Amino acid sequence: MKSLISFLSAVSTAAAAVCPSPLYSVQGANTFVSRDYAQGLRNGQPFITYEHGVAWRALEMVYNATQNASYVNHIKSGVDNIVTAEGGLEDYNLTYYTLDDIRIGETLIYLNGETGEDKYKGAADLLRSQLQTNPRNKAGGFWHRSTYPNQMWLDGLYMVSPFYAHYTAVYDPSNTTAFDDIVKQFTLTHTNCVNSNTSQTGLLKHGYDESHTAVWADTATGASPECWDRALGWYVLAIVDVLDYLPSSHPGVSTLKSILDETIAGIKNAIDADSGLWWLVMSQPGKTGNYIESSGGAMFIYAMLKGIRMGYLDSATYLSTATGAYEKLVDKFVGVNGTDGGLDWEGTVSVGSLSGNGDFDYYISVALSTNDLKGFGPFIMASVEYEKALC
Ligand SMILES: *[C@@H]1O[C@H](CO)[C@@H](O)[C@H](O)[C@H]1NC(C)=O
Ligand SMILES: *[C@@H]1O[C@H](CO)[C@@H](O)[C@H](O)[C@H]1NC(C)=O
Ligand SMILES: *[C@@H]1O[C@H](CO)[C@@H](O)[C@H](O)[C@H]1NC(C)=O
Ligand SMILES: *[C@@H]1O[C@H](CO)[C@@H](O)[C@H](O)[C@H]1NC(C)=O
Ligand SMILES: *[C@@H]1O[C@H](CO)[C@@H](O)[C@H](O)[C@H]1NC(C)=O
Ligand SMILES: *[C@@H]1O[C@H](CO)[C@@H](O)[C@H](O)[C@H]1NC(C)=O
Repeated sequence: MKSLISFLSAVSTAAAAVCPSPLYSVQGANTFVSRDYAQGLRNGQPFITYEHGVAWRALEMVYNATQNASYVNHIKSGVDNIVTAEGGLEDYNLTYYTLDDIRIGETLIYLNGETGEDKYKGAADLLRSQLQTNPRNKAGGFWHRSTYPNQMWLDGLYMVSPFYAHYTAVYDPSNTTAFDDIVKQFTLTHTNCVNSNTSQTGLLKHGYDESHTAVWADTATGASPECWDRALGWYVLAIVDVLDYLPSSHPGVSTLKSILDETIAGIKNAIDADSGLWWLVMSQPGKTGNYIESSGGAMFIYAMLKGIRMGYLDSATYLSTATGAYEKLVDKFVGVNGTDGGLDWEGTVSVGSLSGNGDFDYYISVALSTNDLKGFGPFIMASVEYEKALC
């Protein structure tokens, strides 16, 4: 099967597959380990951040592909800096109610399974308990953070939903209410982050405010003005990962697959003809100051390739698109570091927030960063999928 796919793709793209030795996923994982990128520390102190959660997921995927124990040991040593012996999280402020911190939760579930140690389950329970009291808007959507009342940002879907679904599947599998709630977060954002430009169907806006009062909220829909590539990337990443855990009999499976279909079609349609990749502000392609950004692209490619592998997306429609984009992404953004021989990852925008006015000038004003885990992690995820398909 794999060689048939490789053969067909080689014929249709006529490009040599990007399968260096060691593979990019392995070179990336070795770089994470040797540079200590995800130690759960900042200035030597325990530090919880979704960026490390993203890096740990990427390392887990490379561990599964290679069985190199260094990767799982690295995950564990990082997580052990933030999990207490009693099964809590260092300095965790649950009532700050930030969805971002929940991203690390999947790795806690994973380590509980790998090691059998209860402390990881305890820490996962703490994050799960946050969802019981996390403020919600009137429609039932989680506020992105206590400081952003009534607002749902697409980013939050990746921070929470795969953990919520993974937790439910492992520890509470008959809880249909929880699975319904998970799907509802997607349908709410899909309905309300609406993009009225009919040439951009599927490209959801960054977020919406159910109360329509944020400075950026559209008075009619509550949606923010622009479609930001990384937010949409988190959203499609969330869908393909949540589908691993949703029971196949749950009606949300077909709902999520149909949202994925529409969104990925929009993402394919938005590919820039010159670079073969995606704009930072997808709602204003080609506008002066806009540029081709790397983290969103890595996430789109991962979601497409995993979606194809799992049978959610049509291979004939998307495989050569996704593998071709991956090859361009490598060309443009991956370099070899002259000092340590590891990889360097370029072109990732450091943040994108709806704390200001969320307009075009804001997004293009944010600095880029090198070796940003929000892009480097998804690049490794995309590499693992690419290598499963072609190497
Ligand atoms: C396993 O991972 C470690 C740490 O990144 C690396 O130094 C080592 O070369 C890897 N082993 C193999 C066989 O790739
Ligand atoms: C890695 O493998 C383990 C054991 O089979 C599995 O439970 C886990 O879901 C896999 N992780 C990923 C990210 O696919
Ligand atoms: C936790 O966050 C809440 C909400 O921001 C804040 O009011 C409270 O002071 C914080 N608690 C601690 C211990 O920092
Ligand atoms: C099931 O999930 C719902 C929604 O998250 C939650 O309120 C409820 O407590 C859970 N029930 C059990 C038995 O865990
Ligand atoms: C609508 O979308 C197309 C395709 O992305 C774009 O070229 C055009 O500028 C958009 N129109 C408006 C009014 O934003
Ligand atoms: C290159 O490697 C060095 C040593 O590991 C590291 O400090 C640096 O951040 C890396 N990347 C760049 C772009 O310099």
